[in-house]
Amino acid sequence: MSLSILGIAGSLRRGSYNRALLKAAAGLLPADTVIETAEIGALPLYDADLEAAGVPAAVTVLKARVRAADAVLIATPEYNTSVPGVLKNALDWLSRPPDQVLNGKPAAIMGATPGLFGTVRSQQHLRQIAAALNLLVLAKPDVFIARAAEKFDAEGELTDERSREAVRKLLAALRDWTLRLHAAESGPGTPPPVLS
Ligand code: FNR
Repeated sequence: MSLSILGIAGSLRRGSYNRALLKAAAGLLPADTVIETAEIGALPLYDADLEAAGVPAAVTVLKARVRAADAVLIATPEYNTSVPGVLKNALDWLSRPPDQVLNGKPAAIMGATPGLFGTVRSQQHLRQIAAALNLLVLAKPDVFIARAAEKFDAEGELTDERSREAVRKLLAALRDWTLRLHAAESGPGTPPPVLS
């Protein structure tokens, strides 16, 4: 069965390691799986007044892309041991009713940092946020890319073979996870709305 993944990088930086990680993922996909990436830089800061005046077009477009995808793959940097504000902002917009497009969506997360801890702390926070959204994040395998400067070349290619293998395994597991959840969906029906 053909399966589509929407990749979201939690960095706006042109030379972002996490964008580069998503780019690497595109070359490490299992069979019958495609990936597209979404940009979150055009989203305004979440503001309930703005929302009440009419959901911004960039939010509507992103929501439609998430809805259309079978699964989501988030590549998160680590800022002050947590997720960057731009990523949290995107998740906050995507969480808003009436169309809570992340509710029940299969997902996987990964991250890269020049630091030593491989984004483990930001990924823990991201899992906590995901639980609030009922975003169904795959538990394992972990992809923590530490010392990113040694794992990517000057052109942003992920050259480290162990890292490439880790991403390959994550994508295969995400495909399996998504197919299992889709199969389960034909049973109990659509998930109830997420209450905040
Ligand atoms: C960072 N960085 C960082 N790295 C890390 O491993 N743990 C951390 O807690 C932080 N904290 C932090 C805070 C702020 C405000 C900035 C700007 C940076 C470094 C960060 O990992 C580095 O800038 C990455 O290159 C960001 O990811 P992208 O943009 O390369 O994808």
